[in-house]
Amino acid sequence: MLLETHFLAAAGASLEAANRSTYTTFFSTTSYLFACACFVLALKWLSQPATARKGNTIGQIGMLAAVVGALLQHNVIHYEWIFIGFAIGAAIGVPMAVFMPMTAVPQRTALSHAFGALAAALVGTGHYWLYFHNSAGVTFVPHPVEMSILALEVLLGALTFTGSLMAFGKLQDLLPTRPMVYRGQIIVNLSVLGGAILCGTLLTFNPTWWWLFPILLVLALAFGVMLILPIGGGDMPTVIALLNSYAGLSASFMGFVLDNRLLIIAGALDGASGLILSIVMCKAMNRSFTNVLFGAFGQVQAGPAAEGDRKVAKPTTPEEAAGILEAATSVIIIPGYGMAVAQAQHKVRELYDQLTRRGVDVKFAIHPVAGRMPGHMNVLLAEAEIPYDRLLEMDEINGEFPQCDVAMVIGANDVVNPAARHDKSSPIYGMPIIDADKAKTVMAIKRSMNPGFAGIDNELYTLDQTLMLFGDAKAVVSAVAKELAETNHR
Ligand code: TAP
Repeated sequence: MLLETHFLAAAGASLEAANRSTYTTFFSTTSYLFACACFVLALKWLSQPATARKGNTIGQIGMLAAVVGALLQHNVIHYEWIFIGFAIGAAIGVPMAVFMPMTAVPQRTALSHAFGALAAALVGTGHYWLYFHNSAGVTFVPHPVEMSILALEVLLGALTFTGSLMAFGKLQDLLPTRPMVYRGQIIVNLSVLGGAILCGTLLTFNPTWWWLFPILLVLALAFGVMLILPIGGGDMPTVIALLNSYAGLSASFMGFVLDNRLLIIAGALDGASGLILSIVMCKAMNRSFTNVLFGAFGQVQAGPAAEGDRKVAKPTTPEEAAGILEAATSVIIIPGYGMAVAQAQHKVRELYDQLTRRGVDVKFAIHPVAGRMPGHMNVLLAEAEIPYDRLLEMDEINGEFPQCDVAMVIGANDVVNPAARHDKSSPIYGMPIIDADKAKTVMAIKRSMNPGFAGIDNELYTLDQTLMLFGDAKAVVSAVAKELAETNHR
């Protein structure tokens, strides 16, 4: 805006233009204010499953108001290029929203961040170019504060762009998902980041040293790639939340550069919520940021237990499982990643219906990091129309397990591993878990004795009260529900 004021002064803006500008500024400021209120409400409502749909809708209304407000800005002279961009964006975005499956939401989110961050980096680059190559033919040397904000915008935008593309590649299996580590990696990474920050600092005080700008850009793009290399595919959701935060900050800095209050507020909301989300995820996994970013978690597979120590799991059949469930008065279902992979949520709903029809009290225990993305289990169970009030967070439900007849673990592993409580050598030691092992009977559905995300054995499966239902979650849950339905009719 500062820059624009200079250009207007230099070109001698007319009174008519000033009047038009007053009206459009009023309408666009009002739209922005409305959009900001919508975004705050969206964040509030999105935090509860019962209000999440409403949150999504109000967020969309806010975004529409923001776009209209931006188009009303008096400094928009031609709309052609905006509508061409709009059409290209819609051609990419609409099929992505319609055809991408729920399990692909983390990578879809990574792509959205990549595009948003690219936009911030390009706007910053364009703005820098205009200091020296504008239509008024005036060279404008920015204030150091403005230049430093612009450098931060470009730095964060560029590293988030390549970082998010890398995250997308790993989650979509286009790139190897294992952490790629080498000796001295942290030093190399920090040197590249340091180089980019140095370029930004030098530019702040000498904005005319234009040759530093492409170096800053290349170093930031390279850092985005290098940041993601040592992180395993399974940790990507946490990293995506962090990249979300960077993209938000970049948008906020862009707001300062363009003097756009909506971008400042929306970017800050995005930045803060992304950071809070990644902190919540790290806490739920009992991990630190440094451990997520440099720990190469999941890379080291725990060795198999010595033959002598290995306890034997007791397999059971859907018929036997149905018989036990029939006799139960309270059942707690613990869904995990395997339920998502098998897309078993609708069969789980059938099982829920069969049990509640018999007067069994059925609840669902939701671990904050069950699955592979925040709210993964809530979304799937909501899709199957399980009533929201049956879904209880880990802290709310853990006290109920000692009185519970059957804890039914469906494709969950790490989030019910008792080693997290007592085994100091375990990579998940300290992670809060769902107390399934305290139930009178445990039934665990999975295909094999293979470990979950953390790569470690789970003693829950070999406890005296545990029965294993081996097989694909969808097929097994369906067989148990069918068995219950048949006994219902007998
Ligand atoms: P996991 O510990 O990953 O275990 C999932 C289990 O599902 C596996 O043991 C697997 O055993 C089973 N499985 C896979 N496909 C199946 C199928 N078709 N049918 C039946 N079972 C199937 O899952 P969890 O307990 O949900 O824990 C999540 C893990 O991901 C935690 O370690 C968490 O820290 C990590 N993580 C989560 C997030 C978020 S935000 N949710 C983000 C990053 C990391 P089989 O192969 O034997 O079937």
